[in-house]
Amino acid sequence: MAASTVPLVKFNNGLSIPILGLGTWQSKPGEVREAVRDAIDIGYRHIDCAHLYFNEKEVGDAIRDKINSGVVKREDLFITSKLWNTYHRPDLVEKAVQISLDDLQLDYLDLYLIHWPMAYKEGSDPFPEDGKGKIIYSDVDYVDTWKAMEKLVAKGLVKSIGLSNFNTKQVQRVLDAAKIKPVTNQVECHPYLFQKKLHSFCKERGITLTAYSPLGSPQRPWAKPGDINVLDTPIIKTIAAKYNKSPAQVLIRCVIDRGIIVIPKSTTKSRIAENFDVFDFKLTPQDLEQIGSLDCNGRLIPQAEGREHKDHPFAHGDE
Ligand code: A2P
Repeated sequence: MAASTVPLVKFNNGLSIPILGLGTWQSKPGEVREAVRDAIDIGYRHIDCAHLYFNEKEVGDAIRDKINSGVVKREDLFITSKLWNTYHRPDLVEKAVQISLDDLQLDYLDLYLIHWPMAYKEGSDPFPEDGKGKIIYSDVDYVDTWKAMEKLVAKGLVKSIGLSNFNTKQVQRVLDAAKIKPVTNQVECHPYLFQKKLHSFCKERGITLTAYSPLGSPQRPWAKPGDINVLDTPIIKTIAAKYNKSPAQVLIRCVIDRGIIVIPKSTTKSRIAENFDVFDFKLTPQDLEQIGSLDCNGRLIPQAEGREHKDHPFAHGDE
């Protein structure tokens, strides 16, 4: 499978993104360097990163290796990073992107997202607490953060800008004030949280959806025995058997067949390859309907520590 055969999704600004990328959330610093190297060798050209994943330096080393050894050119790659909650204040936004650029050893990002709509108290602690286990919030409005994000495009530091974990009302508030429209909204998306409403809302406004945790994030630290295990779902296993594919491949294909960008995470070489091997089959509308029938607002990544924030996207019933 060559990199060039991965379909591209066109953004509202005319630029394009490979529909499949490598996720790096929870990729340990000791493992992610090799994983990104393997992924690029396998054909991945889109790597999804974030300052908060605490591994951008290692991702940067891997990208640098592959560029220096002539395997890829910078312009062949699509690299995303995200602005963490403690950097929402407009005067901190350029500083934040510069930290990610330095760590990733790049002079521009293809895409920079506001990671969450909630602003936390500015400072070096990514989860500033009040001593009683509560996060200290900041009252910066994400609309003002967005205006600072727009300046990064003008400065050439990022090619495209977008959102992550924004609900429909929040997307609309940004759109109402935006000079540059967000190109994507990156959200949790898998059969138990199918995101039908958010997907059509964004699509109608020319904004793509990007699915994180498409496999249901089986290694999420707060999972308890008996919680949802998306990879183990009987319907998914039955459809996988029909196509002689794995459940993970069906989950990834399901997102792609809906026209949604997808970023499965793995640091295991065989799985990185397996997750890329999804372009030789296609799900039928009936398969997609069956998978969509599993939707039950089964959110697995609740961002519980920010629940009381006025801008928490899904703690106040505003999906
Ligand atoms: P690992 O990184 O150890 O390979 P998500 O993208 O939904 O957040 O899921 C990521 C999790 O799923 C990681 O724990 C990853 O494990 C695991 N995973 C990734 N690809 C596969 C696969 N093809 N089959 C089973 N588990 C997978």
